Amino acid sequence: MQREELMAETYPVLQSAESHALIDKAKYEKWYKESVENPDKFWGKHGKRIEWFKPYTKVKNTSFTGKVSIKWFEDGQTNVSYNCIDRHLENHADRVAIIWEGDDPSLDRKITYRELHEHVCRFANVLKKYGVKKGDRVTIYMPMVPEAAYAMLACTRIGAVHSVVFGGFSPDALGGRIVDCESTFVITCDEGLRGGKSVPLKANVDKAIDIAARHHVHVKSVLVVRRTGTDVGWASGRDFWYHDEAGTVAADCPPEPMNAEDPLFILYTSGSTGKPKGVLHTTGGYLVYVSMTHQYVFDYHDGDIYWCTADVGWVTGHSYIVYGPLANRATTLMFEGVPNYPDQGRFWDVIDKHKVDIFYTAPTAIRALMGAGDDFVKRSSRSSLRLLGSVGEPINPEAWEWYYNVVGDARCPIVDTWWQTETGGHMIAPLPGATDLKPGAATTPFFGVKPQLVDNEGKVLEGAADGNLVIADSWPGQMRTVYGDHERFIQTYFSTYKGKYFTGDGCRRDEDGYYWITGRVDDVLNVSGHRLGTAEVESALVSHSLVSEAAVVGFPHSIKGQGIYCYVTLMAGHEGTDTLRQELVKHVRAEIGPIASPDKIQFTPGLPKTRSGKIMRRILRKIAEDDFGALGDTSTLADPAVVDDLIANRQNKE
Ligand code: PRX
Repeated sequence: MQREELMAETYPVLQSAESHALIDKAKYEKWYKESVENPDKFWGKHGKRIEWFKPYTKVKNTSFTGKVSIKWFEDGQTNVSYNCIDRHLENHADRVAIIWEGDDPSLDRKITYRELHEHVCRFANVLKKYGVKKGDRVTIYMPMVPEAAYAMLACTRIGAVHSVVFGGFSPDALGGRIVDCESTFVITCDEGLRGGKSVPLKANVDKAIDIAARHHVHVKSVLVVRRTGTDVGWASGRDFWYHDEAGTVAADCPPEPMNAEDPLFILYTSGSTGKPKGVLHTTGGYLVYVSMTHQYVFDYHDGDIYWCTADVGWVTGHSYIVYGPLANRATTLMFEGVPNYPDQGRFWDVIDKHKVDIFYTAPTAIRALMGAGDDFVKRSSRSSLRLLGSVGEPINPEAWEWYYNVVGDARCPIVDTWWQTETGGHMIAPLPGATDLKPGAATTPFFGVKPQLVDNEGKVLEGAADGNLVIADSWPGQMRTVYGDHERFIQTYFSTYKGKYFTGDGCRRDEDGYYWITGRVDDVLNVSGHRLGTAEVESALVSHSLVSEAAVVGFPHSIKGQGIYCYVTLMAGHEGTDTLRQELVKHVRAEIGPIASPDKIQFTPGLPKTRSGKIMRRILRKIAEDDFGALGDTSTLADPAVVDDLIANRQNKE
């Protein structure tokens, strides 16, 4: 079938899903209506899905104008780790909370809720022993091991604010994040292990601490979890082994009562300009929202085995490996490895091994595994699977069909979940049992979410339309501020379209009211589901001594979704060679991390600029997309001849 034909297909709610599903069409309509017409009543009711030490009397107190203030359940008190662990102990202490599947297929572990309680308490007591207090920022730079979840939950138990930094980020990127939130306590591992290769986490932390010290932020303690047992550098008095410390503290730690609006965590994410922003989420609203979306979007039933393949370093890992599932007393699978190790059938083998009911992954992985052929899938039974999920980028209809027919044997609905680090949880997604599916559409909004499409002038578009996606009112999982820079929060999200939260995404709404995300409309790239600012890659490039100027754009990539195309002008007298290209790739990897590796580097004597010196990115994007027949108006260029050179020397020629 052609792409357009696929996109026009409708897959009615599956019978098997419908007969079990928590929400049907009528219930969705009714709840949705109430959620947007009377949010106080709706969330007042659903806020009770978590336990409160002190019940809230106020529900919603939010404003998207002026100073922008977002408060939910503001006079309530609760604790996240209590909700994710303690409250399940009375009747379900022996249920498995975390299944850990190692990089090496012969390694796995099962941690019950009772064991989770002890681990988290000990972890929390170790943090306390080293002076970590409520409100302190703790940086977590860990691979996918259960201790990463213990560390996060331990912070929430004592009211410390965690900042998890993805283990694939470089020492520079880690150092910058330590500095931004002035964090003086770091938790890491000796090494990580992915696809049989080790990642030098502790060594990276050592470098990052030196970088932070140059910016006057001095890390006092590093708690190290042993994973591979390799020798690592050691600063005595600063570095401590977790296994030495855990035995010295009590196995119980009372959860700290936290106000609903107390900070829970900071997570750095890329924007269209400047350095990454510290997205701040708070306690009560976030937990209500992630637990509710986890239950209804995944149609989670008690006892289901649930697997999200994300890394805890991203928001998906926070909300849908750790907090949402554990708040719902789920069994959540944590996978240390990669989809193609030992071979391309690993995901499907793990599904059979642990009898996974619900599987949630990213389109980039689906496309890569689709390319490996169906045999890897078909050697597994996948008979335990009931539901499939997708997240991180638009899923192309071809990948959707393969996921549905080959992986899901045409029996499992696919929930394509659109959301962002900033939104905390799912915003637009089908509900199994309630929403007919269309390949490539994120479909309809979750309860309480009011999406709108606006044109570039901010005019609200009605009916079927194409526009910029904004959200007209607050929902409990929304970020509250940019850490340490509320003005930037207002500027980034609420100034483009006054009084509305601007997502940065383009979107189409069809005749049935379904939302189809078309991708970012700003200078943010989405490479293999990872978010990167073009400005970040540009500043990494120009920090190389031979680079005078750089402009970075995305281009369509069959596996990664988007690839990174760099236009580079060298310092006078230097020649662009293949060796220099490789050196620049290495340089960017060292500055940011492997996820930012440039795919193409084009050396150019100049960049297309307007007479006022503004780079015309539109032209660069078109050339990178190999679509230079339609460059549009180039008459405002200071030097139109630049364009001919750019086209002649483009790097995307077959
Ligand atoms: O462009 C959208 C894309 O990912 C961006 C958010 O990235 P991040 O904050 O890293 O969070 C990723 C995980 C939630 C969005 O602005 N995106 C995310 N999910 C989808 C998507 N685009 C299309 N369809 C999706 N399901």
